[in-house]
Amino acid sequence: MCISVFILAVLLVNSICIVKAQEEDNEKVKNETITPENLEKLKLLERRKKMSNVIVYGWPERENEIIMDTVEAIGHKLGILKPLSMVRTAFRANKPSNRIPRPILIRLANNSVKGKWIILYRKSKLWKKQFYIEEHLSKAIQLLSSQTRVWVKSKNYTHTWTWNSRVFYRKSEDDSKRYRVLNMRHLVRLNSNEKLSEIVDISPSSPANKR
Ligand SMILES: *[C@@H]1O[C@H](CO)[C@@H](O)[C@H](O)[C@H]1NC(C)=O
Ligand SMILES: *[C@@H]1O[C@H](CO)[C@@H](O)[C@H](O)[C@H]1NC(C)=O
Ligand SMILES: *[C@@H]1O[C@H](CO)[C@@H](O)[C@H](O)[C@H]1NC(C)=O
Repeated sequence: MCISVFILAVLLVNSICIVKAQEEDNEKVKNETITPENLEKLKLLERRKKMSNVIVYGWPERENEIIMDTVEAIGHKLGILKPLSMVRTAFRANKPSNRIPRPILIRLANNSVKGKWIILYRKSKLWKKQFYIEEHLSKAIQLLSSQTRVWVKSKNYTHTWTWNSRVFYRKSEDDSKRYRVLNMRHLVRLNSNEKLSEIVDISPSSPANKR
């Protein structure tokens, strides 16, 4: 009981923040808009760009590192023969952050290559070695994903994951159904009335469902 009240409070605060951020975004967009179609295209392009990025956490950083050598080593670890043929660019997060080693952002050739890297990673069980590869997510989806993780834990469900910036969870190993969380408001509704709010995902493509 205590836990769910706490989560709800966190969720409410966060959902307010997100609504505010969305309003600001909308205003910015309004100023630059020519036509609604252009706008949709721009948004799609931006999302597509991000959708072929992965972020690598926990890969050791050497002095005078040549980043492409590092990325090649990561690819080999995943069992990819010529990883650099699929990589556009890569860099360490340049902000001195409290994460050591600094995360590496890798921009891959396209979304299907990204899918391949994520699937290979999830199959490899490399997270046991404290090295993580994730999709590059927007701040809002990151938040949704982490709050969903808190909620899923509180329900004792088996796991949650993201695929192409969508958030999913599974309740138990015996239940093959895949559930989707749409946004913060939806998560709040799930938390207060799960049976009425849950959404079974039936789209064909979200293969990376193991973690
Ligand atoms: C949009 O344009 C208006 C008028 O030019 C300006 O006052 C406002 O600050 C702009 N908003 C953003 C988010 O840039
Ligand atoms: C994605 O990139 C890879 C590697 O460059 C290429 O082989 C593949 O055809 C591309 N797929 C799509 C859908 O563009
Ligand atoms: C989750 O599991 C723990 C430990 O087995 C148990 O104490 C708790 O009541 C469970 N919570 C729910 C919501 O089932």
